[in-house]
Amino acid sequence: MSESYRVGVLGATGAVGSTILEVLAERDFPASEVVPLASERSAGKRVSFGAGELEVRAVSDESIEGLDLVLSSAGGSVSSEWAPRIVAAGAVVVDNTSFWRMHDEVPLVVAEVNPDHLADHRGIVANPNCTTMQMVVALAPIQREVGIERLIVSTYQSVSGTGQKAIAELREQSRAVLAGEPAVAEVYPHQIAFNVVPQVETFKEGDDYTTEERKVMAETRKIMSVGDEVGISATCARVPVVTGHSESVNLQTKRDLSPNECRELLASAPGVVVVDSPSEGIYPLPTAVAGRDHVLVGRVRRDPSHERCLNLWIVGDNLRKGAATNAVQVAELLAERDLIRVPAGAASF
Ligand SMILES: NC(=O)c1ccc[n+]([C@@H]2O[C@H](COP(=O)([O-])OP(=O)(O)OC[C@H]3O[C@@H](n4cnc5c(N)ncnc54)[C@H](OP(=O)(O)O)[C@@H]3O)[C@@H](O)[C@H]2O)c1
Repeated sequence: MSESYRVGVLGATGAVGSTILEVLAERDFPASEVVPLASERSAGKRVSFGAGELEVRAVSDESIEGLDLVLSSAGGSVSSEWAPRIVAAGAVVVDNTSFWRMHDEVPLVVAEVNPDHLADHRGIVANPNCTTMQMVVALAPIQREVGIERLIVSTYQSVSGTGQKAIAELREQSRAVLAGEPAVAEVYPHQIAFNVVPQVETFKEGDDYTTEERKVMAETRKIMSVGDEVGISATCARVPVVTGHSESVNLQTKRDLSPNECRELLASAPGVVVVDSPSEGIYPLPTAVAGRDHVLVGRVRRDPSHERCLNLWIVGDNLRKGAATNAVQVAELLAERDLIRVPAGAASF
């Protein structure tokens, strides 16, 4: 990476955007300038970047002018409007929202899993949903080695996955409950403090799966380049944890894979750390993963009901590997492969 780029961070005041700024600085991404962008509400605010601070600008045709790359996490409706405008202005967008992920001309990329999908980008690259991201980092090596036939996924997702307002709601409800006061629920449909809510995102009319569960099923297939031949069923629940999503994954492989072989495979896989000594109380925990970029995998064991099924417990930091770190890794790959440029005739989104 010899060149240096002008980088915009859209959504810079949010849970993901502020983590993107942190990761860009930590990994010393070759940026000649970093421009934090958000709504009019935040214009003029200061955000941390490395040892210093940067002033936030409102996103506008003027503030995106001259940028080479924009890492975006300002919500789906902002991305639907601004990603095409940013591409038309000449910058490549790495987008964290769900809006572009399933678009045919947008690669959905996890750095350790399908980096080669970047080659065909037409200006927008999508970052998967945090739940899907951490799961496929752990599943890709198994898929490559023995093939996967079926996945049953149950998630226990932290509130930072919903953003800053949800973190504040968990804190305030916890305080209220402990003080014997009523817990006011605004972000979630029910109290989240001291509770488990089996609804992540929304139910579309006529569907008994939530939009989050649909994303896990569809995005996993797109990233791993598999179709309906791989059965996937997801149940997503929200738990009162600030950072770190946990997942119980039951997977049926095409060829036999013992728990020991699975541990060995995962121990040498990029982005994965095996944490698996359950009798000593050693297994992945959200408190252990917060602030880390690796996905932790443990509780690897045979499903006694099926000879080709294993159970895994997978935990990742949803703000880092689940969003910001992967976005910056994708930016690094684009830079290394000389792909921080919008191909001619690409601005047709
Ligand atoms: N949290 C996660 O773990 C996670 C993981 C993967 C993907 N994502 C996705 O990333 C996106 C952001 O999530 P988050 O958790 O960071 O949310 P958040 O904490 O609520 O932050 C939202 C950001 O978007 C900005 N924004 C809102 N409306 C805007 C507008 N009209 N124009 C420009 N900027 C605007 C906000 O700026 P202001 O301060 O000016 O309002 C803020 O910087 C969502 O689409 C989410 O689904 C989140």
